[in-house]
Amino acid sequence: MRMYTGRTTLSKFLIEQLQDVDDGGQLAGLLVDVAAAVKTIAALTGRGALGGHHGEAGSANVHGETQTRLDLLADEIMVEHCDWNGLVAGMVSEERDEPIWVQSEEQKGGYLLIFDPLDGSSNVAMNVSVGTIFSILRCPEDSRQDASDFLQVGSGQVAAGYAIYGPATMLVVTVGKGTHGFTLDREVGNFVLTHPDISIPEETSEFAINTSNERFWEPPVQRYVSECKAGSTGVRKRDFNMRWIASMVADVHRILMRGGVFMYPRDTKDPAKPGRLRLLYEANPIAFVIEQAGGAASTGRVRLMDVPPELLHQRIPVILGSRNEIERIERYHREYDSGDDKPYVNPLFKERSLFRAEA
Ligand code: AHG
Ligand code: MN
Ligand code: MN
Repeated sequence: MRMYTGRTTLSKFLIEQLQDVDDGGQLAGLLVDVAAAVKTIAALTGRGALGGHHGEAGSANVHGETQTRLDLLADEIMVEHCDWNGLVAGMVSEERDEPIWVQSEEQKGGYLLIFDPLDGSSNVAMNVSVGTIFSILRCPEDSRQDASDFLQVGSGQVAAGYAIYGPATMLVVTVGKGTHGFTLDREVGNFVLTHPDISIPEETSEFAINTSNERFWEPPVQRYVSECKAGSTGVRKRDFNMRWIASMVADVHRILMRGGVFMYPRDTKDPAKPGRLRLLYEANPIAFVIEQAGGAASTGRVRLMDVPPELLHQRIPVILGSRNEIERIERYHREYDSGDDKPYVNPLFKERSLFRAEA
């Protein structure tokens, strides 16, 4: 393992990590731009109510979700920091229906940037941690400047990460060489490497899920959660703890720090939606970060980063975290799909559910 001594700043770290990568300098430059945007968003969210930007914007995004003023400001900040510098060819944001294309040939670069500018934004007025999630892909050489350029499997990501605006602002990044955490030194303005080579513990006794949706989950997820809740009196023979912050970045950050499982699984609440979270700017970048930290990320049936995207704003079931638990949950899905989970009776309904998902 490489030892990082002294105060390693983000740019110094990236130059070292990317020195043997094609166009590594360009990728480092783009990541430094993302970090600059993150610092600006940190300053904005850090002002809280004093910033005068709380509240709804009076508009809705492509998902029909009400946009907050901070959603739109964070989106503009990301675009302003990354669109002029010859590094990106196009961008996709949760808050924009269509991609943004860099038109000028001099300013067009080789990368595509996809982002959720403010994750957990419904929490911001309550002063709960929020974040920014980003994914970087190579722009196809035969780009036609349409949505298909972005519809690449997650395993093709060249970099991904998130910022968390909590008591401290942190940036957690992977370029496919481990997952590394940087803390913003606010007085100086530098991101300093504080959490090199993050490794998720394989064994865990903590899960995160919005249990108000329990009646809409598929049986394998109901089975897993009911076994966790049964604790030492059930088949798991140990007690579990539960957390749900409702900001994906904050729940994921806790899992990176001390292990656990995060689930926003497929449910039947709205049959038109196969999940709550979005594949390109929530599931894939977080899956990359989690896998690079030794964890696993799945839909319950397949590895998230193997799912071929069909739509820019597509939703997907997300189950990720400590590897052993994800393997168990995937096994529960297989057993359910093959009818092999016969002894399992859902205690919520006192009968075996007839709910079956498509393959
Ligand atoms: P966003 O604010 O970008 O729309 O994302 C919110 C997401 C995610 O951060 C979180 O895990 C989930 O929504 C919370 O959903 P519930 O409100 O159903 O708990
Ligand atoms: Mn989000
Ligand atoms: Mn968002």
